[in-house]
Amino acid sequence: MRLRILAALLLASPMFAGFGTSVSAQSDAVSERVNLMRSNGMTMRGAMRATGDDAVAAARTLAGNFGTLPKLFDDPSAPGDTLPAAWENRDAFLALFAEAEQHSLEALEAAQAGDMDAYGVALQKVGQTCSSCHGTFRR
Ligand code: HEC
Repeated sequence: MRLRILAALLLASPMFAGFGTSVSAQSDAVSERVNLMRSNGMTMRGAMRATGDDAVAAARTLAGNFGTLPKLFDDPSAPGDTLPAAWENRDAFLALFAEAEQHSLEALEAAQAGDMDAYGVALQKVGQTCSSCHGTFRR
């Protein structure tokens, strides 16, 4: 019974929806990064008002997302809404991710220390990396 449910779930998942493996590997990276970016958006909205454990959790989510995101932009042949500049100007693109992760970690440290002023400052810096990256590298 359990196995049958698992098999049904696997068959319903887009990975097994009948695409060739290379196509599904590419679209997986795009949909994975889109999901993480949406998580960034939702997290940022709540993060500004968050305190205590919620602030810690929000900063941790952002830091985790930014740690994972760069490797989901490895393949220029699956651009999604990403501009070619992200591959042509690779160092600047990756530097913005590193900056976003760095400021998220600063926000995490501040939230853990209960320093909400420093948390707010760090979050604002994270927010600046969102806009400057989107302004340059997103369609
Ligand atoms: C270093 C670059 C970079 C940073 C930093 C960055 N983004 Fe993105 N973001 C992108 C790119 C590129 C896309 C387009 C992805 C694709 O479809 O290929 C995107 C897409 C998105 C999307 C659209 C997802 C969808 O539904 O299609 C949202 C929302 C988003 N980002 C939110 C954020 C937020 C919030 C932050 C900051 C907390 C952030 N991003 C930081 C590069 C970045």
